[in-house]
Amino acid sequence: MHLPPLPPSVTTSQAGLASLAVDNRHGRARIFLQGAHVAEWRPVGADEGLWLSVRSLFAPGKPIRGGIPICFPWFGPHPSRPDLPAHGFARVMDWTVNAARDLPDGRTRIELGLTSSPQTEAQWPHRFTATYAVTVGTQLELELSVRNDDGAPFKFEEALHTYLSVGDVRRSTVNGLQGARYVDKTDGGARKVDEASAVTFAEETDRLYLGTEATCTLADASLGREITVAKAGSRSTVVWNPWIAKAARMGDFGDHEWTGMACVETANASEDGVELAPGQSHRLWVGLSVARVGV
Ligand code: BG6
Repeated sequence: MHLPPLPPSVTTSQAGLASLAVDNRHGRARIFLQGAHVAEWRPVGADEGLWLSVRSLFAPGKPIRGGIPICFPWFGPHPSRPDLPAHGFARVMDWTVNAARDLPDGRTRIELGLTSSPQTEAQWPHRFTATYAVTVGTQLELELSVRNDDGAPFKFEEALHTYLSVGDVRRSTVNGLQGARYVDKTDGGARKVDEASAVTFAEETDRLYLGTEATCTLADASLGREITVAKAGSRSTVVWNPWIAKAARMGDFGDHEWTGMACVETANASEDGVELAPGQSHRLWVGLSVARVGV
């Protein structure tokens, strides 16, 4: 892998897929260059914040199951071409490491990039530059910027498809979405409004919430902790747990692992997709933090 100078907190691994390991006084993380994929993040003094399947493939061109896949430039299946990868090409392409540095307060900031190429233009006919800044501290900060390098406007979808680790999803709730409208993918895409005070998990859950800029919290009674997903530049939030049957159908997802995860994804999807004029950029920001509660 071609890399810029790395600060003391960052080491590289070539075993399987190339990755960067970050270890500083605030926490640890691992970032794969394929997909600019943050696969692990553990703030100091806390347990791992992200969920990663023991059955995940770490193979060229295959998505990693867990951590934080980047979905771009479309979310879910491609609207007209089933031969193209679900959730777009960004999560299965190699990103470059543009810069890495230790910040004065001890956090580490890594910036990765993906630029349009003949390979991306064969799937999505637009020229763009995407940059992704990952700052590893007690808070994990993620900033995805997309610039339109084309001569005409384009529209895209995106998501930071965050798999969060929980003790037991059946004892976990997502707060912050009361009153928001959503597309229920487990009910044929029916449009609904969430009247509940919190999202609970008692069956397969696959909801695309639209028009919501709210911070969400994932309360986990089992581990006695709460994960906050703060965001900016995002109008969609996806909440997903595959439950028993869908987990069993996925080859890279252990049959019993669904109890230990919940996705709270920060997105701009469907009618919340982003339209960019030539030369214009859009920025999506997420801050993840973990707090102990009720102990
Ligand atoms: C979620 C979607 O974001 O991602 C689900 O809402 C989908 O419908 C899930 O099953 C996982 O997708 P994939 O492509 O990683 O298996």
